[in-house]
Formats: sequence, C-alpha cells, structure tokens
Amino acid sequence: MYNLVGHTCLGVREETMRTNQTLEVIKHRRSIRSFQPEQITEPQLQALMEAAMAAPSALNQQKWHFTVVGDRALIDLMVDIVKENMAKLGHESFTKRASDPAYHTFYHAPTVIMISGDEKAMFTQVDCGAAAENIVIAAQALDLGSCIMTSPGLLFMSEKGNELRGRLGIPVGYNHVCTVAVGRRRGDSPPMPPRNKDVVTYVR
Ligand SMILES: Cc1cc2nc3c(=O)[nH]c(=O)nc-3n(C[C@H](O)[C@H](O)[C@H](O)COP(=O)(O)O)c2cc1C
Repeated sequence: MYNLVGHTCLGVREETMRTNQTLEVIKHRRSIRSFQPEQITEPQLQALMEAAMAAPSALNQQKWHFTVVGDRALIDLMVDIVKENMAKLGHESFTKRASDPAYHTFYHAPTVIMISGDEKAMFTQVDCGAAAENIVIAAQALDLGSCIMTSPGLLFMSEKGNELRGRLGIPVGYNHVCTVAVGRRRGDSPPMPPRNKDVVTYVR
C-alpha cells in the first residue's frame, strides 16, 4: 500500500510517511539481548497483551495461548532445562552454548511471554507470529526492549520440560510456537543487522 522508498501514493504525502510514528517504531525495533532486572509495570504488560490479542488470525480463529511468566525462579528453571536439552542435540555450537554459564535463553528478561498454538488449527504459526510481532512493536512503542525467539521450544524436547506444561497453563493440544522476552533494555539498542535489499519483485 505505501511506497516507503519515496513516491507519494494513495494520497499519503512523502513527508507524512517520513515522520509517521508507527513506521518509526517499526524501523527502530531491535532484538534486545540485555535487560535490566526490574519488572515491567502492570499497565505496560496489559498494553502488550492487548496488542497481542489485537493481531490478525486466519478466519479470526485466535487459536493461540499466551503464557506470561514473571517468576524469575521459573524462568531460570526453564533455561536450565533448555540448556540440558540443547546439550543433547549433538551439534557443536549448541553444545558450546549449553555449557556456557553466561548463556541465558531469555537474556535475563524479567518477563517472558510464551505463545502456543492449537496443533489442529491451520496457519497457527502465522497467527502466533503476528501476535508476537504486535507484542514487540508495542514494546518498542513503550520504550521497552524485546526479543522474539524460537529456541525456548527446546524446553519441550524432554519429559522434564513437558512436565511444566500444566504449570505454564498451555492448553492440551497446543504447542509452543515462539516466545517474546520483554523488559527494560540495558544500554542502547544495537544497530540494525544488515538487511538483504534484493528480496522484492515489483510487478506493475
Ligand atoms: C522466528 C524467529 C526466531 C528467533 N529466534 C531467536 C532466538 O531463539 N534467540 C535469539 O536471540 N533471537 C532470535 N530471533 C531474533 C533474530 O535473531 C533477529 O530478529 C534478527 O537477527 C534480526 O535482528 P533485529 O530483530 O534486531 O532486527 C528470532 C527471530 C525470529 C523472527
């Protein structure tokens, strides 16, 4: 709909696009991997969850479930199990990461939002991805740091991890799709990692 490269289109002036706050928030969001220990506020959390549930879903099915974990001990327990499971994968880089005491899957974020989708519904991965993106954009708008991640899915590779499903309130028949770590960022946002430019075909 918008041509961000420079032309005026659909009656939206070029200048307006350059200063559009939503577009600025989208452009400035980065994956944050260092957080301050303080918890985010309840209004901030509720704003993030409202944004999550405002996401589009196929046929408006909303076959997603959100588990908000703010209990540091539980977060650390999940990290221990993820690392145990990571070590079992037999891949050199994973083995190295799993044995690194500094590696924390959620980067010590005070809040972890796990998103699961109904395994029987179609397109739930897309739906959950849209919800995750809404969360990270909302977080950026609130000046919070965030990181979408799939590695927490390793939690459910072992019996020990699956035993936590009940405690995490993951409905029966739902599987982890991705997790968003959220908190106040420690330090500045990193620069945007390079983007491939040759990934668009314009047919007009
Ligand atoms: C589906 C998906 C899975 C990801 N999984 C992880 C992850 O497990 N751990 C992590 O640190 N970052 C993860 N990321 C973040 C990406 O590494 C990051 O988005 C990418 O490097 C681009 O950086 P940016 O988000 O700052 O633009 C994931 C992102 C996506 C979209």
